[in-house]
Amino acid sequence: MKIGILSSKASLYSTSRLRQAAEERGHDVEVVNPLQCYMNISVKRPKVMHRGGELSFDAIIPRIGASKTFYGTAVVRQFEMMGVFTVAESQAISRSRDKLRSMQLLSREGVGLPVTGFARSPKDLDGVIQSVGGPPLIIKLLEGTQGMGVVLAETRKAAESVIGAFRQLDANILLQEYIKEAKGSDLRALVVGGRVVAAMERHAAPGEFRSNLHRGGTSNPVTLSAKERNTAIRAARVMGLGLAGVDLLRSERGPLVIEVNSSPGLQGIETTTGVDVAGEIIEYIENHATHDDDQQATSSDDPRPPRNRARSRKARPASLGDESE
Ligand SMILES: Nc1ncnc2c1ncn2[C@@H]1O[C@H](COP(=O)(O)OP(=O)(O)O)[C@@H](O)[C@H]1O
Ligand SMILES: [Mg+2]
Repeated sequence: MKIGILSSKASLYSTSRLRQAAEERGHDVEVVNPLQCYMNISVKRPKVMHRGGELSFDAIIPRIGASKTFYGTAVVRQFEMMGVFTVAESQAISRSRDKLRSMQLLSREGVGLPVTGFARSPKDLDGVIQSVGGPPLIIKLLEGTQGMGVVLAETRKAAESVIGAFRQLDANILLQEYIKEAKGSDLRALVVGGRVVAAMERHAAPGEFRSNLHRGGTSNPVTLSAKERNTAIRAARVMGLGLAGVDLLRSERGPLVIEVNSSPGLQGIETTTGVDVAGEIIEYIENHATHDDDQQATSSDDPRPPRNRARSRKARPASLGDESE
């Protein structure tokens, strides 16, 4: 099979592990920087160009950085139009990048979440602070990653000044109930094709409440309860992601989802658990994408893109009413 990894750098741990796992299984792999792809969107037969050549893959693995979501998802969408199987669809990537939108979708499907509020007008601040249970509370940038843009406000005064500062910057934020019983720890479940293939527990560094490994957190392998596993699987399904890193907090009322990542890093989870997550992802592709040997022959007769049988065989994510494309 010909597999394209859309990544800005071949040397990144996740990218090189995915390449290695695919090559070990006898696939042709190419790493291409999505920002160096270009497309002619007006022609009838959609194609993606890179360095003057046309890219032809049976499947792609998008590894789109948070700051490159707009262009990156446009490239993924073009591959989708060509019928190429993708581990993460463009809409699911966009959806996962917006914390508020993700929370709205997850809550509609009854997935456990911390109480979360959102308001625009300063006049409504009191009401929203109240609705999330008052301080201490969490304030989050809608598009933050790696723990940046997540603040714990211990008092009302602190909350007001943080909210005021974000507002000055015209940043969109949400307020969230602080789950103190999580004690600075969270769970990361790696969901591949509707299965949790690996899970770890992460602990915040001393004096820190954010357990992100990028913030100096530590980690250990963990066995999830059936409820935690099911919550992670449901969250990935609601988001429409075949591959997802689901972050959960252990609370008094059960597992609560705080985030669903569409490009989960593999280094932390693989080194912590010893699971070959990259291999699981390649296996997922093998089970869902179709390598069409006749592609060349049919395309010369027929200007339309070869139908990718994988797309019809693939379990489609539940229809999401918030999107109408
Ligand atoms: N509501 C909350 N209660 C307690 N801790 C939280 C809450 N939300 C986030 N955290 C902590 O902050 C970390 C980062 O938050 P998260 O929403 O995952 O943002 P990011 O996208 O920056 O990783 C989490 O891993 C968790 O340890
Ligand atoms: Mg996170």
